[in-house]
Parts: sequence; C-alpha cells; structure tokens
Amino acid sequence: MAVGSLVRRVFGPRCGGGRHVIRTARLDLFTPVIRLDAAACIGVLVDAGAQRWNGLVWEEGTMGAAAAAQLLSFGTGRRSEAVRQWPQARLGERLAADQVDGGQLVAVHRADRRYAGEVAFDPETGQIGGTLAPWYRYRGLGTELFAAGAELAHRHLGVASVGAGAEVGNRPSRRSLEAAGFTPAGGPARHVLPDGREVDSSWYEHRSEHPRRC
Ligand SMILES: CC(C)(COP(=O)(O)OP(=O)(O)OC[C@H]1O[C@@H](n2cnc3c(N)ncnc32)[C@H](O)[C@@H]1OP(=O)(O)O)[C@@H](O)C(=O)NCCC(=O)NCCS
Repeated sequence: MAVGSLVRRVFGPRCGGGRHVIRTARLDLFTPVIRLDAAACIGVLVDAGAQRWNGLVWEEGTMGAAAAAQLLSFGTGRRSEAVRQWPQARLGERLAADQVDGGQLVAVHRADRRYAGEVAFDPETGQIGGTLAPWYRYRGLGTELFAAGAELAHRHLGVASVGAGAEVGNRPSRRSLEAAGFTPAGGPARHVLPDGREVDSSWYEHRSEHPRRC
C-alpha cells in the first residue's frame, strides 16, 4: 500500500492541492473531487423548499427532483452505481483543476454515507450559504453545516470575518447560524433574491482572531 493511502486510511483524507477537508460530529465535508460530488451540490438545490429559500431561478432541464433524490442517495457509499446509471454524465471523472472551487464543500452524512448538503464561501461577498438535502433538514445538521462553512473560511482560506444572510422568516436558517456561532451584524433590512423576490433579511458575522490558510 502506498504511504499516502495508508495515511488516509489511518487519519482520513487531508487538505492539499487546493482541496479542503473538514469533519464535524456527523458530517464529512470536502471540496468536490469528482463530477458526482459537484452534481450533488446541485442536487440539494432542486426541491421546492431549497428553491424558495435560496430564491433560485431554475432553468428547465437542469436536474429533476427524482434524479436529484436518486443521485444524492448514492452518496460516497455507492458511487459506482451512480456512475453506471448515468454513463453519459461521466460522474466518476475527476474535476479539472479549473473546475475545482476551493470555497465549496459537499457534505456527506458519515453514518449513512449519503450526500447531505453543500456549503460555500463566496470571496466576492465574504459570505457563506448552505443547503441540506431535504431528508437531512430539521435534525440539527444545519449547525454543523454552517460551522464547517465558517471553519473553511477561517482556518483554510485565511478569512477573519465571515458573513451570512438569512430571510427573517427562515427560522431554521437563522437558528442554525446562531447555533454555529454567528452573531447579528448590520445589513440592509430588505434584500432582493436572484428570483426577484424581496425579503426581510437578517445579517450575521462570524469572526476569528487567528485566521490561517491550510
Ligand atoms: C437552513 C438549513 C441549512 C437549516 O438546517 P436544519 O438542520 O434544517 O435546521 P435545524 O434542524 O438545526 O433547526 C434550526 C432551528 O429551526 C427550528 N425548526 C426546524 N424546523 C422548523 C420548521 N419547519 N419551521 C420552523 N422552525 C423550524 C428548530 O427547532 C431549530 O430551532 P431551535 O434551535 O430553537 O430548536 C436547512 O433547513 C436547509 O437546508 N433548508 C433549505 C434551504 C435553506 O433554507 N437554505 C438557507 C438559505 S439562507
């Protein structure tokens, strides 16, 4: 066995080459490596709840709800099945270097080995945003997801202050951000989502005194 794979087997996967790895109590989060990981980040955004709260404009034919549910269920435990099911999508291929987004993490539920969500830090806005797969919502995992987003920015990307925004009516989002250590911050009372819907907004911040790059 190569030393690298022995190290990974004993200590788990590690950061390197612009990719990041974070573990929380129940989630394994990592920069998408193969096309299936990247597709899972889209798959968690397909259902009506995710679309509404994120204010998404979904292009017809991007990904249907049934395909998304199936794709997410394959997770890391049954990757080869997903690859066989949609050969034309080449889901097992590694992403090219210019397709790798070091600010994004796909989350896998460690016990189930199914894709559980995605969280991303946007360097342009300085904010994180994240979404769980429908069947992993309302079980307290949002706290872990947002805490991982803050950790990615602080301890892997060297960012001292991370922002986040939530619709006032999105209690799970606000409560998860608060439980993850985000504190209220200033921001516009109203915010226009990508779909044009204008909403009452809450803004948050998560600070680190010792940000670093991994
Ligand atoms: C937002 C999201 C990540 C939150 O994670 P979560 O694990 O589902 O949230 P939790 O289970 O930790 O719930 C957080 C709080 O909301 C409450 N809650 C849960 N479900 C609720 C519901 N349907 N209605 C109102 N409150 C609810 C919980 O009681 C908890 O409150 P508490 O801390 O006071 O007990 C997740 O729900 C999600 O992906 N939603 C869809 C997309 C989305 O809204 N993205 C964010 C856009 S800003």
